[in-house]
Amino acid sequence: MSNFNKQLLKYIPGGAHTYSRGHDTFPKNAPQILKYGKGVKICDHKKKELIDFGMGLRSVNIGYSETEIDEAAFKGIKQGNNLTRPSFIELEAAKKFIKTIKKADMVKFGKNGSISVTAAVKLARAYTKKKIILRCSNHPFFSFDDWFIGSTVISRGIPNDIMKLTDTFEYNNIESLKSKIKKYKNQIACVVLEPATDQCPKYYDKTGCCNQSRCERNYYKNSHYLKEVQQLCNENNILFILDEMITGFRWHLGGAQELYGLNPDLSTFGKAMANGFSVSAVCGKKEIMELGSVVKKNQERVFLLSTTHGAEMGPLNAFIKTIDFIKKNKVIETNWKTGFEISSSINLLSKKYGLSKNFYISGPACSPVFSCLDNNLKNNLSFRTLFVQEMIKNGVLMPWISIAYRHKNKKIISKTLDAVDRSLFIYNKALNHGIKRYLKGPPIKPVFRKYN
Ligand SMILES: Cc1ncc(COP(=O)(O)O)c(C=O)c1O
Repeated sequence: MSNFNKQLLKYIPGGAHTYSRGHDTFPKNAPQILKYGKGVKICDHKKKELIDFGMGLRSVNIGYSETEIDEAAFKGIKQGNNLTRPSFIELEAAKKFIKTIKKADMVKFGKNGSISVTAAVKLARAYTKKKIILRCSNHPFFSFDDWFIGSTVISRGIPNDIMKLTDTFEYNNIESLKSKIKKYKNQIACVVLEPATDQCPKYYDKTGCCNQSRCERNYYKNSHYLKEVQQLCNENNILFILDEMITGFRWHLGGAQELYGLNPDLSTFGKAMANGFSVSAVCGKKEIMELGSVVKKNQERVFLLSTTHGAEMGPLNAFIKTIDFIKKNKVIETNWKTGFEISSSINLLSKKYGLSKNFYISGPACSPVFSCLDNNLKNNLSFRTLFVQEMIKNGVLMPWISIAYRHKNKKIISKTLDAVDRSLFIYNKALNHGIKRYLKGPPIKPVFRKYN
């Protein structure tokens, strides 16, 4: 283990402040520690530059250290950053948010997604006076809080009584949700899911993605899986919560809820809201969100969210500027196009090596997902490690693909595709001759595991 990894593990449990940044989730040749990021490049302690597709765990939608946005953040900082009463910036950010996420009447900002999703769940329990939470099993993460972590394999430290209150259902399988609604009868407070990941909502009998440079299905007007979920929730007095941490400011400026024609009771945002600055949000219908106030007579308050740093002016001003930048530069449309160019070219390269069944990209072009399969066509972490290792060797850090505006640069795209070409050449050899001789370190490990 490198010296930096040892130091990181000595001072920080897990070796990073996010488990998915830890040394065990990257191949041995990944940069151990980083100095800075600029555009879509990152630089390590040896001054080695890499093109990055991790993009700050998907929090950077435009590019690292984007001048206009950084300057907006500095302006907020120079005005005092965190004052004793609400600031003008705080009010402006809230107005801007509500104008952008059209179905939301009110918003409360926080610093990270987990607390915003937990706040939505708490509101749902208070509003419906019911206890059970149904969360989608296909979506890997909603919050670091007990209601979610207790429903994963790493439930150590969470009381059984809490674990029993969260159950799961499957995405794009409406029968799975119906059966859980039947099981818990009138006890379900909310259904929580992401609008989409590599799977778009089932549309008539179509699943998966239409694989175009813009979504070609008329989800807005027609019926689909998420509208069915919404209707089931409405009929059963269950709150419909959409977690837009990843889809927000990526699928559509108004969130995936706008693209899919939905009207969630509550939704949550974070990640790319402020191009890497720490801002998250829980938003939704007035009658529910207002439970967090004490303005109505005899209405008991819900302790919705209250954080010392929730309204920091630097990040909120960065959020305001990010929205302006996205609109002015057509960032969403550009990211869809760039993602389409990259993913369709990668699929062609995979075809060139006869690997279409072993290595392919799926999911919407704005957020492509790559799959690494072995000779038995099973997802395989060793082959995933090999691909990421080879990409690093060729100058690209691609632990997953998070498209940002600055990826559109022709040289970046060409260098990325060249790295993919070389990496798939080795991938093919490893399939034919055994992976051991090509893998230079241990396979990466999943975050959700109990033991080393
Ligand atoms: C869908 C989803 N919800 C919530 C979260 C939690 O966000 P944060 O890491 O900002 O707490 C994540 C983080 O990866 C996420 O992907």
